[in-house]
Parts: sequence; structure tokens; C-alpha cells
Amino acid sequence: MSQHLWSGRFDAAPDPAAFDFGISFAFDRRLFEDDVTGSLAWAEALARAGVLDAADATAIRDGLTAILEQGRREPAWVNGPDEDIHSFVERQLVERIGDAGRRLHTGRSRNEQVSVDLRLYLRRRIPLLQAALRGVIAALADQAARAGDALMPSYTHLRRAMPVLVSHYLLSHAAALQRDHDRLSRAREEANALPLGSGAIAGTGYAVDTAALAARLGFDRVVANSMDASSDRDFAASFLYAASLAMVHLSRLAEDFILFTSEEFGFFELADASATGSSMMPQKKNPDPLELVRGKTGRAIGHLTGFLVTMKGLPTGYNKDLQEDKEPLFDAEDTLAVSAAATAAVIGKLSLHSSRTGRAASGLLLATDVADYLVSRGVPFRQAHEVVGAMVRQLLADGRDIEQLSVAEWQTFSPLFADDVKARVTAAASVRARRTPQSTHPDAVQARLADLRRWLDHPPA
Ligand code: ARG
Repeated sequence: MSQHLWSGRFDAAPDPAAFDFGISFAFDRRLFEDDVTGSLAWAEALARAGVLDAADATAIRDGLTAILEQGRREPAWVNGPDEDIHSFVERQLVERIGDAGRRLHTGRSRNEQVSVDLRLYLRRRIPLLQAALRGVIAALADQAARAGDALMPSYTHLRRAMPVLVSHYLLSHAAALQRDHDRLSRAREEANALPLGSGAIAGTGYAVDTAALAARLGFDRVVANSMDASSDRDFAASFLYAASLAMVHLSRLAEDFILFTSEEFGFFELADASATGSSMMPQKKNPDPLELVRGKTGRAIGHLTGFLVTMKGLPTGYNKDLQEDKEPLFDAEDTLAVSAAATAAVIGKLSLHSSRTGRAASGLLLATDVADYLVSRGVPFRQAHEVVGAMVRQLLADGRDIEQLSVAEWQTFSPLFADDVKARVTAAASVRARRTPQSTHPDAVQARLADLRRWLDHPPA
């Protein structure tokens, strides 16, 4: 028998220059276990539809089970001259059980088979990525708890804006990563539809109970249209988008900590274990892992963009172009997994220099609090903004800071400043003056941290 699944129609062997070019086995072998899972269920469905007799169904089940066990035991065995993983599994089955194995593909096409495999694959692999993201979120939560009431400046336009709790800052990254976790759940749900029963494109000609087959494989629905199903890879694109955006968030986090651990900021110290040295400059402690997370984000985004371009011109129905779905998807998965693990490791070992962050959180970034003070004395905000602007201009000219002013000096700017102004205009008072649940008020941040701990203890599916 020829090694190809489609040789009957051809009288010449394929030209290696053309055929080898189309071989996907080197990368779709990752779908081995999903391919066998799908085939086991398909054989059962055929038996229930009366297409396979009991003896053939049993032979196929036993053969596939043995193949699955051997592949799990010995991953390197999943290998050979086959065109793809589907051809490999079928060849192995026929070698084991003969003719019964040749009946497995009845009513089925590789077009739907590759779709079912990829959907099963994403369904079992996305939760692992989510666990990796939870590792980063947990590291941020631990750092937030350790930061206590430490203060730091927040930035807009990378200029000091207002004082915040260090914990509030750390939890800002956790909030973005929680959205990524959700987005991955939605990509998983999108993938969770059964395409089998679509045949090559028009639907299968056997009375297969697709609802039962979906339930058997844990899919929550059956696709709506066989033609759409044979060319639909939206679920792969949605996954690539979710992975890319998670990488974007890890990259921004990495960028923050590259800056905040620099000599210029000195807000946090990288652990020696998280840094690398220079071959030439002995003083250097480089944040390579963070830089690499930032750098690898480019490839994840490239995979999303590249795959959207692959899909955009396809005529309706399966086209071989779709084989280009797997390498970007697998690489995006690997990239996100290693990046999340590296980020969690780096964050977990950071130490905070709270005296430096605290010092940076005082001074002129309290100007908004000064304006609010005047507002509390009845001054319209616009007018208060003006008074404080003049004050800032004066302080900058004199090279002085808000904290250095005596009450008498305060009153030269406005007679409304009273004795309590020095106590009310501090970074600690500033964060306590925030009122909303999403703010940096210490109670609000504590509540968010408690929510996050509960979420980590009972992560959503
Ligand atoms: N290796 C193929 C892919 O990844 C499997 C489907 C092949 N179908 C076909 N009609 N050639 O898309």
C-alpha cells in the first residue's frame, strides 16, 4: 500500500520537491493525542450509526488505544514519512488491525479532522496558559502584600502625576492579566464546537448523531454550517489575539520594571538570580529576562498578523493555506508560556526600595492635593488650580519644595491655608483622600487584594 491517503487517483508518485513542501507532520505531531481522541469518538459514532460492525469497532478502539499508549510512552515514536499526523495514526492503525483500520475514515475528511484536533488541543492547552498567567498574578499579589503602606509616584506622560500605594501600582498589572485570563477562556469557548459531521465540505452521508458525538468529546455545541466549518479558523485567530494581548501586557510590565530597577529610578532591585552580567562592564546587572519578554511580544503579534493575512483571501471551503495555522499557534503558545513563567520568577524575587519610592512620591506631585485643599475651603477648582500653579512656579524658581514651606509662607499664596495644611498635604494623606473603590485608598487596595486572593483560590474556568 502506498504511504499516501489519496494515492488511488494518481498514477505517478509525488515529486518530492512538491510533496515534501506540504508535509506538516514535523509540527502537527503535537496534535497526536487529540487526533486519536477524535478518532476514537468517530469510530464509536460510526458504530452507533450502524456503519461499523461490533467487531470492527472493537478492533479500531483497541488499536487506537494501543497507539495512544505507545505515543504517550514514547513520544519519539510519533514520527515517520507520513504527510501529517492524521496519515500517521491511520497508517499505524492499519498496520495493527488491517482492514478494520481502513474503515475508520468512512464519512470523514481530514478537513474536519484537523479542525477537531486543533479545537481539542486548544481546549486542553489554554488552561495551562491560564495557570501560567495566574503565576504572574500571584507574584504581583504577594509583592503587593509585602509592600504594605509604601508610597510611590504614579506617572502620566512618564511625568510624576500623583502619589499611589506601591501595592496599587502592582495590582494594576494584575488587573490587566486577569482580563487576559478571561479572554483566553472566551477563546477556549469559541473553539469548543464540534466540526465532525461536516465531511469534506457538504456534510457527511452517514446518520451520525453529531449531538451525541459532541457530548462524548465534551464540546458544548455543533458547528452551524459544514461549508463554514471546513474553512473556519476564527478560533485560532481569537486564540492568537488573546495570546498577543497577554504578551502586550507582559511586555508593558517588563518595560516598567526595566525602568524601575534602573539606577535612575532605583525603585526596585532585581534579584541577582533574575539578572545577567556584562562580559565587559563589571558593574552591570542587566534585566535580560524582562527584555526578552518585551522582545518576544513582537513575534506573538507577528503570528496574529501573519495568520490574519493567511486567511484573508481564501475562497470558501478548506484550502491548504490553512495548514499555516499551526506553527504560529504553537509558537504563540510556547512564547506566552515561557514569558509568563520568566515574568513570575522575576517579580517574585524583586525587592522594593520603599525609601526611594516614598521620597519620589512627595514634593510637587502633591499640587493637586493643595488645589483640593483650597476647594474644600470653597474656592472653585479652576481658580484653585491657578493659585497652585503660581505657587509651583515660585517653588521651582526658588528651588524649594512644598514640604519646606512654613504656614506663614503658605498664606502668602492664599489666606485660606490654615495650620492643618502641612498635615493634609502629604503623600500618605493624598492616597487616603481618594474615595472610589478603584482608587489607591488603602482600604480600597486591601479590598482589591482580598478579591484577587479569592479569585486565585477559585479561578474561573
Ligand atoms: N495537514 C493538513 C492541515 O493542516 C490537514 C488537512 C489536510 N486536508 C487536505 N484536504 N489536504 O490543514
